[in-house]
Amino acid sequence: MEDKRKGFTSTLFSSPERGTGGKAGYRGNCCPGIIEAFITQYGMKYLSDYAVGGGTTKDVCERLGVKGFWTDLRLGFDLTKDEIPDIPENIFYHPPYWNMNGKIVYSNTEYDWREVKERYGYDPRESDLSQIADWEQFLQKLNQTVMKQYAALERGGRMGILMGDIKKKGRLYSMLFGIAKPGTVEQVVIKQQYHCTSDRTAYRSDSFIPLAHEYLLILRKELPFTLDYQITRTVRLSMQDSLSVTWKDVVAAVLKEEGNISLQELYTCVEGFKKCKGNPFWKEKIRQTLYRYNCFSKEESGCWALCA
Ligand SMILES: C[S@@+](CC[C@H](N)C(=O)[O-])C[C@H]1O[C@@H](n2cnc3c(N)ncnc32)[C@H](O)[C@@H]1O
Repeated sequence: MEDKRKGFTSTLFSSPERGTGGKAGYRGNCCPGIIEAFITQYGMKYLSDYAVGGGTTKDVCERLGVKGFWTDLRLGFDLTKDEIPDIPENIFYHPPYWNMNGKIVYSNTEYDWREVKERYGYDPRESDLSQIADWEQFLQKLNQTVMKQYAALERGGRMGILMGDIKKKGRLYSMLFGIAKPGTVEQVVIKQQYHCTSDRTAYRSDSFIPLAHEYLLILRKELPFTLDYQITRTVRLSMQDSLSVTWKDVVAAVLKEEGNISLQELYTCVEGFKKCKGNPFWKEKIRQTLYRYNCFSKEESGCWALCA
């Protein structure tokens, strides 16, 4: 029987063939299918894209009779500085992915910045998100553009943000984690990736798991005057300041750091820990811990050590 469902069939989106629309040669372009699914899933009549790149969103919208405003830094619109020109019912945003290697820097590789400067009177390299080499700075600018677009969105409207992660020197730089998520987080669709340049990369480390997906984050705006958002932040917390660490962890960490030490020395090292502050019997706790776990041993010298 024919599947009459429209839009996404599940939270996994897979389209091995790119399909037509936009420019397949524009680096980092996306497949038209995901935009079509986004439109049809929610019955959209209007969808804007202010970083339209090779024009995929525009082509899909025109084919489906969906209106919108479609532009890009290369077409005279700067998301970091300009006012959103319309009142968008919905937005599709496919920002540049953070790229430390400088492989895709749009204003260097995909178009000639001189032409843009001549035509629109600004140097696109100054606002091109793909020019930002520092991860934190990239996130900050990216989030500024996310919030600006969300603020312009009509009540009840949706913003779909297509993004991907970068793996660099054993660390995952995840746009999904780092991006600001204003409004209601309605859905995350995992998009399987095909034919990416990284497929041809020979990875040096055996522990590397090749990245094979992107995400479409779908946000919905419920309230016109509220710009609440979720964001991931890094909290620096030393063991000394934590109340969640166990006595065993504290003793093990000190012995690992200090080597074999006497009980008195151990007390001195641990005294400043927040965990000791509210406990008048913290010395008894340490002695109890040393005898309870066989990962600690007492040497003939009387010093305590961490067993190998
Ligand atoms: C991943 S590409 C979009 C690709 C597009 N979805 C397609 O299928 O061709 C990201 C786009 O963001 C644009 N961009 C970068 N910085 C921008 C800014 N400050 N304002 C507007 N667009 C920007 C780039 O010029 C690039 O075309």
